[in-house]
Amino acid sequence: MGALSAEEREDYLPMFLKTMLKATVLNEGFILEVSSWGCCAAMLPPGKKADNPWTLFPAGLPGAVLRLKSTGIKRIMVEHGGAVKRAKKKAFTPKEMSEFWYLFIIGTDPGRQRQGLGGILLEHVKAHARSHGRPLWLEASNNNARGLYAKHGFEEVEEITLGVGLVGPDGLAKHDGEGVKTWGMVWRPDSKK
Ligand SMILES: CC(C)(COP(=O)(O)OP(=O)(O)OC[C@H]1O[C@@H](n2cnc3c(N)ncnc32)[C@H](O)[C@@H]1OP(=O)(O)O)[C@@H](O)C(=O)NCCC(=O)NCCS
Repeated sequence: MGALSAEEREDYLPMFLKTMLKATVLNEGFILEVSSWGCCAAMLPPGKKADNPWTLFPAGLPGAVLRLKSTGIKRIMVEHGGAVKRAKKKAFTPKEMSEFWYLFIIGTDPGRQRQGLGGILLEHVKAHARSHGRPLWLEASNNNARGLYAKHGFEEVEEITLGVGLVGPDGLAKHDGEGVKTWGMVWRPDSKK
């Protein structure tokens, strides 16, 4: 029972991201980029899910999950699904549950971080959501991202700790680890920021 080591994660992540991007497109989502792919993001429209049973196979999700030999990481994925669902129920009214846009991947080229690209992309996403009068949801998976989102008006709904006993704060395998934290965050079209 273990999670991924640094080398295993390095090997696994590109394939997993490719699968998630395919799932985004197959579910009517958007892939956005700024400054010649200096920063890019994936966004799903209201009611659409990357784990939609109809697009699982074309996106290659079963293969991506099967490649995870360890049951530990699968346990973390299940934990994540349940915890995020509870956090969303806390953030949204029943009506809003079918109305929010989900920003589920964002990343800036490591050599171009801290130059405002992530912020430009977030402002674009917010303008889109505002024009439709819809809220945005995301999960910050580290403190740098959390800082960026807070700066752009996202409010924390819940701190979620995953993989206690399996991983450390960096998400890498660690015996008796304290777990990795993520923060469910929401932005609303009437937000001042
Ligand atoms: C999080 C990430 C997308 C930010 O992109 P970016 O283009 O650097 O963001 P910006 O330059 O617009 O914003 C910078 C703000 O983000 C936060 N931030 C980003 N990188 C940071 C760092 N290394 N240390 C501290 N704060 C950081 C700060 O609030 C910062 O504002 P400041 O420079 O005024 O202090 C980028 O760091 C990244 O790709 N990280 C790896 C992937 C990742 O974590 N994705 C998000 C998963 S939820």
